[in-house]
Amino acid sequence: MPETHTNPLDAATADPFEIAQRAADDIARLTGVEKHDIALTLGSGWGRAADLIGETTATISATDVTGFSKPALDGHVGTLRSILLENGTRALVIGARTHYYEGHGVRRVVHSVRTAAAAGATTMILTNGAGGIKDHWMPGTPVLISDHINLTSDSPLEGATFVDLTDLYSQRLRDIAHRIDPSLDEGVYCQFRGPHYETPAEVQMAKTLGGHIVGMSTALEAIAARQAGMEVLGMSLITNLAAGIQATPLSHEEVIEAGRAAEAEIGNLLARIVTEL
Ligand code: HPA
Repeated sequence: MPETHTNPLDAATADPFEIAQRAADDIARLTGVEKHDIALTLGSGWGRAADLIGETTATISATDVTGFSKPALDGHVGTLRSILLENGTRALVIGARTHYYEGHGVRRVVHSVRTAAAAGATTMILTNGAGGIKDHWMPGTPVLISDHINLTSDSPLEGATFVDLTDLYSQRLRDIAHRIDPSLDEGVYCQFRGPHYETPAEVQMAKTLGGHIVGMSTALEAIAARQAGMEVLGMSLITNLAAGIQATPLSHEEVIEAGRAAEAEIGNLLARIVTEL
């Protein structure tokens, strides 16, 4: 569907950081919260966490915030929430993810992360629903992202901007998560462009390269978060075994259903992690 409004990020002369600052100003005005401490992007299956981590003090529509687009998909909520945790931490929950496969360019993909940084957040929690390569990961298993392989051939960094990605998925934050749930496994996340699911051969390629999780988000956002100096925690909900690892064909319905079945459990887990940060 054609969009009815233009996005300022698409202008040739746009400065994405200035637009992120405008978005952060919108959030401060609309939520009444001047500064947020942490931000969470909730992917497929993770939505319930927003209700469990604290008291929602404001819910705003993403389309009222500069540079945000309408979500392309049902099951992805187009809202931003300001949540007050019991320990006084202010969390910005981003329920509006722009995926790379939408074809609007990487600036729009990482706008929410840059906005969170401009809003004051120093921790970025990125969650997603994804396919699992380790065959003992049953659908509904949450796993920590230990590193990524960016297979989009793209980057949110523009020009000669050299950013170190060692320890991109913070060991400190993973240690906290492990303390809360010692059974949590870890894996290397491979971001494919999508929106098609991978072929079995591509899954085997990802496995050979050292990947354990396949998905269509997160890596580009994590790079932008690191550029902004944020500490990153990445978590995937394994909604299905990756193509060729499971015998049956993949479907979006299966992904949504696995998310639904697991949402209370992983919401609780995320809520416990967030209070320890
Ligand atoms: N591949 C890519 N993205 C996904 C998958 C998958 O198997 N499952 C959920 N999102």
